[in-house]
Amino acid sequence: MTTARTTPEVGGMGHSIKRKEDPRFIRGKGTYVDDVVLPGMLYLDIVRSPHAHAKIVKIDTSKATAVPGVLAVITGADLAKYNLHWMPTLMSDTQMVLPVEKVMYQAQEVAAVLATTRYAAADGAAAVDVEYDPLPAVVDPHKALEPGAPVLRTDKKDKKDNHIWHWEWGDRAATDRAFAEADVTVKERIYIPRIHVASIETCGCVAHFDKVQDKLTVWMTTQAPHAIRTVFALVAGHVGLAEHKIRIISPDIGGGFGGKVPVYPGYVIAVAASVLTGKPVKWIEDRMENLQADSFARDYHITAELAARKDGTLTALRIKTLADHGYTDAAANPSKFPAGLFHVCTGSYDLKAAHVEVDGAYTNKPPGGIAYRCSFRVTEAVHTIERMVDIMAHQLGQDPAELRKKNFIRPEQFPYKSALGWEYDSGNYAGALDKAMQMIGYAELKREQAEKRKRGELMGIGISSFTEIVGAGPSKHFDILGLKMFDSCEIRVHPTGKAIARFGTKSQGQGHETTYAQILAEELGIPAADIQIEEGDTDTAPYGLGTYASRSTPVAGAAAAVAARKILDKARKIAAHLLEAAPDDLVYEPGKFSVKGAPNRSKTIQDCAFAAYTNHPQGMEAGLEAVSYYDPPNLTYPFGSYICVVDIDSGTGEVKVRRFVAIDDCGNIINPMIVEGQVHGGLTMGLAPALLEEIQYDEHGNVQGGSFIDYLLPTAVETPKWEVGNTVTPSPHHPIGAKGIGESATVGAPAAIANAVVDALWHLGVRHVDIPITPPKVWKLLREHGVKD
Ligand code: CDP
Repeated sequence: MTTARTTPEVGGMGHSIKRKEDPRFIRGKGTYVDDVVLPGMLYLDIVRSPHAHAKIVKIDTSKATAVPGVLAVITGADLAKYNLHWMPTLMSDTQMVLPVEKVMYQAQEVAAVLATTRYAAADGAAAVDVEYDPLPAVVDPHKALEPGAPVLRTDKKDKKDNHIWHWEWGDRAATDRAFAEADVTVKERIYIPRIHVASIETCGCVAHFDKVQDKLTVWMTTQAPHAIRTVFALVAGHVGLAEHKIRIISPDIGGGFGGKVPVYPGYVIAVAASVLTGKPVKWIEDRMENLQADSFARDYHITAELAARKDGTLTALRIKTLADHGYTDAAANPSKFPAGLFHVCTGSYDLKAAHVEVDGAYTNKPPGGIAYRCSFRVTEAVHTIERMVDIMAHQLGQDPAELRKKNFIRPEQFPYKSALGWEYDSGNYAGALDKAMQMIGYAELKREQAEKRKRGELMGIGISSFTEIVGAGPSKHFDILGLKMFDSCEIRVHPTGKAIARFGTKSQGQGHETTYAQILAEELGIPAADIQIEEGDTDTAPYGLGTYASRSTPVAGAAAAVAARKILDKARKIAAHLLEAAPDDLVYEPGKFSVKGAPNRSKTIQDCAFAAYTNHPQGMEAGLEAVSYYDPPNLTYPFGSYICVVDIDSGTGEVKVRRFVAIDDCGNIINPMIVEGQVHGGLTMGLAPALLEEIQYDEHGNVQGGSFIDYLLPTAVETPKWEVGNTVTPSPHHPIGAKGIGESATVGAPAAIANAVVDALWHLGVRHVDIPITPPKVWKLLREHGVKD
C-alpha cells in the first residue's frame, strides 16, 4: 500500500477519506439534468422508427399538432433549412440529426414534438403519422461486405459498398515468419457482442437560448463539456452560435461509462428548438430510448491466432477483426486510431511479433464503438489475448498460470516497447499473479478440481492477467476531432488559506471532488476539506477533454500536481520574504516551509496565502493562483491478475461464480476506499457481459435487447462477493506516480470468467465459448459434447 505522507486531518494521498460529494447524493440532493426546471420550459419528445431500414414517404403532423399542449413538430426537412439535419460524428463520419430521406436503424429519431408538458409531447409523438417504404435491412456485418449487399450510405455519393475502413498495424512479414517457424499454433473465432452502458441516468438536456443576452446555456449529460461546446460552435456557427455565446454545464451525472461522450440527436434538436422559440427546452430519454438508440460498445468479430514453441514460449500473435459500427462510424476513438487502442492486444506478454487488421462495416444498427468503461477497445484486446493464452496453455497441457509467468514482460524490461509499438511504463505482472494465486489458494483449488472431475462435477479456474492502457494522451498521438488530448487544472488559494480548483474533466460518480482535493492536499498541505473542486461548467472551468477512458487521474490528476507545484514555487518566495531567508534555504514538508537547520522558523501555506494578498514582496504580483494544461509524456499502464472459480450445473447450464479474486495495480493510490469501490463496480460491469448482457438483432434489424426485461443487468443476486487486493508499481512519468483504475476491472473480468468456464469444459472437448455465457448456451454445449441429462 501507499504510505501516507500527510495526517488524516490533511487527508492527502493514501487516506480513505469519505467522499465529499456523498452528503448531497445520499440525501437525494444531487442536481441532475432532469432536476433543472426553468420558468416557461417546454418539453421535447421524439418519434422513432419501427423499421431498421426504410424510405420516409410522408410525415403527417396534423393529428399531432392538434393535441392540446403541442406547439410544433420538428422534422428533418425543418432542420435542413438551416443545414442542421446532419452532424459530424467523433470519427469524422456523418450522422443524421433527423432524417429527410430514409431511416437506418430501428428506434432512430424521425421527428420531434415540442409541447408545454412532457405528457403532451409524448401524446403528440404518438400522433405523428409516418408513412414508410421498408428497405432490406443489413444486419450481419459479414453479409454487409458481400458483393451485391444493399449499399446503406446512399447519402455518400461515391460509396459503392458498406466498407468503412481497413486498418492494420504491426509487422506482417515478421509475424508470418514466426507462425511458419512455430511448433504450435492455435486459432479461434471470438465474438465480443454489442452491449450498452445502461447507466442509471439516461441522456438528456435542458437547452436555454436567452434572446436578450444572446447566449445559449445547455445543461446536459455529457462527459466532455468543453469539446461539446466547441463542436456546437463549429456545427452551428453559421446560425450565430459562437463559442463564447455557448455555455455547457454538466451537472451531477448518474453514470457515463463512455455512453455520454457522443452528441446525440436529441441534444441538437433541443438546442435548435430553444434557439427558434427563445424558450428553455427539456429533452430526457426514457429507458427504452436509451437502450435502443444511444451508441453501443464492442461488436467485434475477431479471428485470432497465437504461435508458440513447444516449451510454451509465445512467439507471435495475428488478429483479423470485423467491427460492426452500425450505420455510421461514431466511435469515440482518437482520430489516428480507427480501432482505438486495440493494438495493445499483445497484453502482458513479451511477444516478439504481432500483426493486427481491422475492417469497419456499416449495418442497419445504431452507432457502435463507444469506449464502454475502457480505453478505446482495450476490453476487446484483453479478452482476445487472455482467451488465446489460455487456449494455448490448455493445448500444450501446461498450467495457465505457469504459461503466463513464463511469458510475462519482466519488471526489469520496463519501460518496455511492445511489438505493436506501445511503450509500457512500469509493471510487475508476476507479482500481481502470485498475490492472486496465494489469496485464492490456487494449488488447493487445482486439487479440488481434479477430484471433482473424477466425480463428473464441472468446476473451472480462470485467470486473466491483463494490461490496461489509460491516460490519453500524449497530444502528439491523441486527438478527438482535432482537439488534442491534454487536460487541465486551475487553482486559486484564497487569503485565508482555503482554495478552489477547477478541472477540464467531469466526474460521473467517480469521486473527483474528493480525490482531486486529496492530490492538492498532498502537494500543498492544505486539508482536503478546505479545497473546493469544480468541474463541468465551460464558463468557469479551464478547457479540457473530459472524463472517459480512465484519463482523469493520469492527465487531470497530473495537472493538479503540476499546478500545485507552481503554487508552491510562489509560496516559497513568499515564505522566504516572511522569514527573511533565501528561497533555497527553505525546506518544504506538506503545508510548511522552514529554514534549513532552524525548524522553528517556519511559515505555513496558510501564512503564505494570507501574505500573498496582504504582504507580498515588492515586485511580485499579488494572489496565489496557478493553472496547468498537462500533456502527458506517455500513457499509464495499470494491470492486474484476476482469478475466478466457477461451478457449472450440468443439468441447467448455469454458471455460478463461486470465488473471484482481483489484484489490481494502479500505481500510487490516492484514496484506497474509492479505488476499492471502482474495482467492485467495475467487476460487476465485467461480470455483466461475461454472463448476461447482449444486444441482439433479428434478421430484420429488430432489436432484441431493448428493455430491462431482455437486457439483463446483474443485480445483487447475481453478483458474487469480490475479494480484492493491490500491488503498487508507480508510474515513473506521472507526477504522483498514479495510473488510472476506473475501468481495469471491467476490462479484466470477462476473460477470467470465460477462461474459468472453458477450463471446466476443456476435458469434454470445448475450446471456446463466446460471452455472454448464458445457461442455454452452456446447456447446448454440454449436450453437443456428450453430457446427458
Ligand atoms: O477518468 P476516471 O475518473 O473515470 O478514472 P480514474 O482516473 O481511474 O479515477 C477513478 C477514481 O479513482 C477517481 O476518483 C480517482 O481519483 C481514483 N483513483 C485513485 O484514488 N487512485 C488511483 N491511482 C487512480 C484513481
